[in-house]
Amino acid sequence: MLILKNIDDDGWHFATSRTSRKGRELAEAPRAAMNFYWPGLGRQVRVAGTVTELSAEASAADWHERPRADGSDNPHWQLYALKPAEIEFWQASNDGQHVRHRVGPDGGPLG
Ligand SMILES: Cc1cc2nc3c(=O)[nH]c(=O)nc-3n(C[C@H](O)[C@H](O)[C@H](O)COP(=O)(O)O)c2cc1C
Repeated sequence: MLILKNIDDDGWHFATSRTSRKGRELAEAPRAAMNFYWPGLGRQVRVAGTVTELSAEASAADWHERPRADGSDNPHWQLYALKPAEIEFWQASNDGQHVRHRVGPDGGPLG
């Protein structure tokens, strides 16, 4: 469970410590998928692609925006951007005919 921090041309932003398990795994293999799930709607959006590290300045700014940050720095805190290669929209249906659309980064068909 992570907070989605922003979406811009770099991708879908999230932040974590580079020393966390996911931070270490991303250093080894910079690919990830994000899953957004709305149980009440039976709806899921899944975004998958490559992950890049954003700048030290942006990461520090993100750290200091955290509500309980006491003003001290965290050199391990890293802001990342996931650039979608594939986006899947999934909608549950009571009749079991669930709908799944998979599109490329620009909303068009997958390459
Ligand atoms: C509502 C919620 C929001 C969270 N947001 C973040 C976040 O933005 N970044 C983060 O590193 N961990 C966040 N966590 C904690 C992670 O889910 C996870 O426990 C932690 O990052 C350790 O993961 P690791 O297995 O990579 O060490 C959040 C947890 C919850 C319940």
